[in-house]
Amino acid sequence: MTDKIQAKIIGASKPRIDGPQKLSGQAMYAADYHLPNMAYAYGVFSTVASGTIDDIDLSQAKQMSGVIDIFHHDHFPDLYRTPSSFAQENKVDETRLPFEDNRVYYPGQFVALVVADTFANARAAAYAVKVKYSADAEPVATLSQALARGDKPKTDDSSGHSRGNPDNAFDSSSNQIDVTYVTPMETHNPMEMHASTASWENGDLVLHEASQGVIFARNVMSKVFGLPPERVEVRSPFIGSGFGSKLWIWPHAIAAAAASREIGRPVQLMVPRHAMFTTTGHRPPTRQQIRIGTDDNGKLTALTHDTVNTTSMTDTYVETTGSCTKSLYDCANLRVSHATIGANHGTPTSMRAPGAAPGLFALESAMDEMAEKLNMDPLEFRKANYTERDQSMDLPFSSIHLMEAFDKGAEKFGWSKRNHEVGSMRDGDEVIGWGMAACNWEALKMNCDARVSLRADGTAFASCATQDIGTGTYTIVAQAVSSITGIPIDRIEVELGDSSYPSGPVSGGSWATATTLPAIAGATRKAVEALKSYAIGDGGAFAGAKAEDLSFDDGQLADDNGKSVAYTDVLQELKLANADGEAHTPGAPQGEYSFRSFGAHFVEVRWDAGISRLRVSRVVSAIDVGQIINEKTSANQVEGAVAMGIGMALFEATDYDERSGLPINNNYAEYLVPVHADQPDDVDVILLDHPDYEFNEFGARGIGEIGITGMAAAVANAVHHATGKRVRELPIRLEELM
Ligand code: MOS
Repeated sequence: MTDKIQAKIIGASKPRIDGPQKLSGQAMYAADYHLPNMAYAYGVFSTVASGTIDDIDLSQAKQMSGVIDIFHHDHFPDLYRTPSSFAQENKVDETRLPFEDNRVYYPGQFVALVVADTFANARAAAYAVKVKYSADAEPVATLSQALARGDKPKTDDSSGHSRGNPDNAFDSSSNQIDVTYVTPMETHNPMEMHASTASWENGDLVLHEASQGVIFARNVMSKVFGLPPERVEVRSPFIGSGFGSKLWIWPHAIAAAAASREIGRPVQLMVPRHAMFTTTGHRPPTRQQIRIGTDDNGKLTALTHDTVNTTSMTDTYVETTGSCTKSLYDCANLRVSHATIGANHGTPTSMRAPGAAPGLFALESAMDEMAEKLNMDPLEFRKANYTERDQSMDLPFSSIHLMEAFDKGAEKFGWSKRNHEVGSMRDGDEVIGWGMAACNWEALKMNCDARVSLRADGTAFASCATQDIGTGTYTIVAQAVSSITGIPIDRIEVELGDSSYPSGPVSGGSWATATTLPAIAGATRKAVEALKSYAIGDGGAFAGAKAEDLSFDDGQLADDNGKSVAYTDVLQELKLANADGEAHTPGAPQGEYSFRSFGAHFVEVRWDAGISRLRVSRVVSAIDVGQIINEKTSANQVEGAVAMGIGMALFEATDYDERSGLPINNNYAEYLVPVHADQPDDVDVILLDHPDYEFNEFGARGIGEIGITGMAAAVANAVHHATGKRVRELPIRLEELM
């Protein structure tokens, strides 16, 4: 066991070290690369939801200026499918290859790809491609349509859980609620659109991809093109976020790479915003039935949470809404189940806090409904069912400070002043509603490799094939190296986002921090060991000494006789450029603990019935994610998640027309995301900062997703408190409140 990391740099509020590069325009994104002789590709996207392609008429498009080639199912190289596997690090959500055959499974599917000398020429020619379809008569556009047709949902056995006797216990409970919640399809809308810039040299592929996971992307591309992984390099040094949509490879990247190899020129393909609504994943719509039973003291006696979500016609994606329900509260009789049903959509994928975000909307709304029925304060009801044991795994939580999150959040918010009567709190024309909900997210940690060099010029270098998706990973890696070496973070160069670096994790699931930092720390210590071995060798500053008698602190190598030499001098005297170290760290320890993060949101809404205006005016979020590595970037994560949670509660929904099966609002104008005017006057983030050393030596569990969990429920609960309207279908629309 290594010493616990306690250096002051850990937990400090540090601005992002890559900030100046981003603000000055030097940070390069996937579509910023303009390679010599590069061509541009633009997709032709299916305008039917389901059917077959009968004919593709290229006569006009081929004549247009600058057109180099047009690919489609009769003119595309044979490629290989990848067996989608998370464990083998080559996961994809859409296993079908682009242009595999003439079938159309969803609107917006790539049906052709025009490659031309400029972006404008490629796009113009794409619009001139005429595709004839035989459209199937009854596409499945929505979850309710799929259910109404009587299609049978397919149960996912691997994600279900049952304990005790939930159905009998429910039937014999003194107090019962049985309610169904509905969440819509939501679409990831990162600022940066998906993009691929592909080039080949001597049969090797280099792909600049807007990616949250260069290693997975590299592995998938190597499978698809039948190449050994070392002949594929995927680069993603900067992305304009992804929210999960950029975790895995989508058809556009394969199409761009194949087109580039075919025409013998670099090819760049950007996915237009409308196609990001169809071909790069989405959060699927869900229907969730929740039943809660309690005794007369408000103790849970039964809980069931049964969900169905739509998936695509070709692949199965399960939205694991019960992932928090199974362990958040103390309840002996409990079941969660998940099922999927096919729809003519592209395959869904992880969207920030997959499963948990829609799942906790349902559970934490239902907890509020039960509290009301019991005439209990909703916070007290939750506290009455607190547990420190994960009953789904029969293991204790490694570290849980949910009670402190409840108490600190409540105190900061002023929860004790809540008048529990609906509509009772007013401020002029506005009715004020106060609601709360718990947050919950699994803490995960993966395998990781890293490399660190201490350099003779007083700088250090760290590299890992993980990515910084805007969250601050570059900065915390520098903090980790600094915490061990004392080298200031502005002298630490960090390289991420290239699959040729030591293998690192996907930036997703809130596991990048917990995964990457221990490997970086391990590599740093190995570099220090190398430094010591040089120092004690011939001509070294401590020649003849024993390595274990030397200490390294604040950039100084010292023995116990009071001799101290700067590490730069040690290296320079030996004419050595660096001391290097590499390390591998394993995934999360298994078997003794359940690792989860916790928190609570307290939300104030204001409803002005006279002008039908609803807004979220105040949010206090208390978050328990273990050690905070960087206070600034951590708080940013929660603030961003709160904004996204407000979007989920009040605005976001991707709608499909049930007659045509086509998307309706697949653009930034009609797909509503919260803007500045929708933000609360105040978002107060409380970071509890209790290190979880059972999880890793930094005690950090990660903070990307937890802030969105519970947020939509807290808003819905506040809306109920203000208006008396219990909205069980997201988003909450004003017409529901009138
Ligand atoms: Mo997050 S949905 O794991 O990118």
